[in-house]
Amino acid sequence: MAELKGLILSGGKGTRLRPLTHTSAKQLVPVANRPVLFYGIQAMADAGIEEVGIIVAPETGDEIRAAAGDGSAFGVSITYIEQASPDGLAHAVLTAEPFLGESPFVMYLGDNLLRDGITELARTFATERPDALILLTPVPDPEHYGVAELTDGRVSRLVEKPPEPETDLALVGVYMFTPAIFEAARAIEPSPRGELEITDAIQWLVDGGLRVDPHVVHGWWKDTGQVHDMLEANRLILDDIAERHDGELVDSRVEGRVCIEAGARLERATVRGPAIIGAGATVRDAYIGPYTAIAEGVTIESAEIEHSIVLAGSTIRDLDSRVEASLIGRDVTIGRGPAMPRAYRFVVGDSSEISIL
Ligand code: G1P
Repeated sequence: MAELKGLILSGGKGTRLRPLTHTSAKQLVPVANRPVLFYGIQAMADAGIEEVGIIVAPETGDEIRAAAGDGSAFGVSITYIEQASPDGLAHAVLTAEPFLGESPFVMYLGDNLLRDGITELARTFATERPDALILLTPVPDPEHYGVAELTDGRVSRLVEKPPEPETDLALVGVYMFTPAIFEAARAIEPSPRGELEITDAIQWLVDGGLRVDPHVVHGWWKDTGQVHDMLEANRLILDDIAERHDGELVDSRVEGRVCIEAGARLERATVRGPAIIGAGATVRDAYIGPYTAIAEGVTIESAEIEHSIVLAGSTIRDLDSRVEASLIGRDVTIGRGPAMPRAYRFVVGDSSEISIL
């Protein structure tokens, strides 16, 4: 069998993560200070995959290229493949056909996070040699996902976002395919949402009598499409973070597992982990609570924050109440204005959301 290749889909618009995605690709929003996309590339490298194709959209391709580069930082070689229009996951597979050729491949949705990676799966796929292998996990809201039905341990039916799901087994955004998927993707029609659905292509394989094996995921899985998912993913990754204190601590208290990058400075701060504080960040007279990721060059001063993600270059200062469950973009300033007149003052981008006491 040819070498297993990797295909990461990083073309989606990320409408549910606006306003961050007005200026940045959703796959580059950081979780524990690393772009979501990097976890997928790393999972491929860990599974021994050498050639990775990344599908990008025309609008965000340059930014993704600049972030992930040629892949050498991960030990893989990355080829960028532009998908001219967002016509569905099966369409993305067809766009990548010249890159994939005759190789079996793992397809990974660029906004998905899988705790246990794909090493085990790649091994199972190579030894069992099904025509496709799909990952499934029980979820409380299967109507938002592709849903699978199993018969005698094999996949018998797949439906994309059924209003009344027959099972609670959701399709995780990681799939293993053989080149049989190309014929399937060419055979299907666009779904009601106007996309060539990978779910329908896999159903086409099942209908043709090909073998589609299920694999139920045991470690956690997250699709980071929405703000609360990002925060949850941040929490899950921080739960496993390694403790490291490379920054400078002055009269500060650090409790639990906290990663403080070199060049960060804490003055009269309390940090309660798990948390990460990026390079060059300043935390002064402030409290950083559990499940918080503070990116590079952020300033938190006379303020308290927990269970939140703050992106590079932002400042949060002089707040009376604690900030929590927040996703704050790049170079944002949140602080107290002049004493008079007493008023809220906002300069906020499109599709932002603000909750005040
Ligand atoms: C896609 C797939 C769906 C799958 C989900 C996993 O949905 O179509 O079958 O369950 O990814 O993240 P989308 O994110 O395009 O709505």
